[in-house]
Amino acid sequence: MKETLDFCKAKAPSSTANLGPGFDVFGLGLDLFYDTVSISKLTTKNGKIRITLENIYSKIPSLAEENTASLSVLKIAEKYKIKNDLDIKIVKGVPIGLGLGSSAASSAAAVTAFNELFRCKLTDNELLDFAAEGEVGSAGVKHYDNVVASLFGGFVIVRTFPTIQFSQINTPKDLILVVCVPKMVTPDKKTKLARSVIPKTIAFEDHTRNLSNACMMVSGFQYGDTKLLASGINDTIVEPARKSLIPGYDKIKSDALHSGALAVTISGAGPSMIAFTNSSKDARKIGKSMETAFAYSKIESKAYVCGVSGGAKVISKY
Ligand code: HSE
Repeated sequence: MKETLDFCKAKAPSSTANLGPGFDVFGLGLDLFYDTVSISKLTTKNGKIRITLENIYSKIPSLAEENTASLSVLKIAEKYKIKNDLDIKIVKGVPIGLGLGSSAASSAAAVTAFNELFRCKLTDNELLDFAAEGEVGSAGVKHYDNVVASLFGGFVIVRTFPTIQFSQINTPKDLILVVCVPKMVTPDKKTKLARSVIPKTIAFEDHTRNLSNACMMVSGFQYGDTKLLASGINDTIVEPARKSLIPGYDKIKSDALHSGALAVTISGAGPSMIAFTNSSKDARKIGKSMETAFAYSKIESKAYVCGVSGGAKVISKY
């Protein structure tokens, strides 16, 4: 008979990736939605994983070889030759396929719980690499920007060449995010689709412009200067290619800027849009303007005002 030996539950936040010019490099943890993953280690040792989705979402695979959380767990188990059967329970809080790092949050919570449960003592880079395995399931490639933010929180810069390395920078105290989430059904593997529209080659001047904007953002974070960081949120490479995937993109952006936003961009691969401000008074107004602009394109949406989150955490174990 199967019995549970040990149990661990962890949660991880939503995130926004790219932040304009930092495609696949910048991530920011959002204190807005959270995924919770519980893992029970069973006495039996057949290397089997059973997944339960507490709040049913038809779009989430429940097969261990396809689910983002278990893809990550399977890779760690393989490395450490762990054969215990596992029961993994996932409670989705992060909306799926809307550009808020949903798959990353499940993977980040899963690797955090697994690492604790089996006392693997993974380094931060190993945690990150295993969590990114989950992204293969949804994006077709390992990209690290959402997982790095979901695992460690705050504003994070990640690179993968020559090896994985990340750097976290404190965020300005007055930084406020307005996230407008459309009620849209996005295609399965939406990130893969959104990556397929990105140009294969770019003009040198676009590279220079994006690089200078990205550097200005880092400087803004470093100095705790929200206006400076927001001045760099302008992407001339990926965003122009993706904007047609977001109904009303131009109006959403210009209306939010007219309502006082310091910058507006696509959240991750979209279709959610994110605005940056340092005024809580403006934040509501900006959110309203984004909702109204989506409605203009006959899309219902909801704007949320939030701050920056910390990273993934173990919340219970026995
Ligand atoms: N950097 C990734 C992309 C983030 O834009 O495709 C996906 O959430």
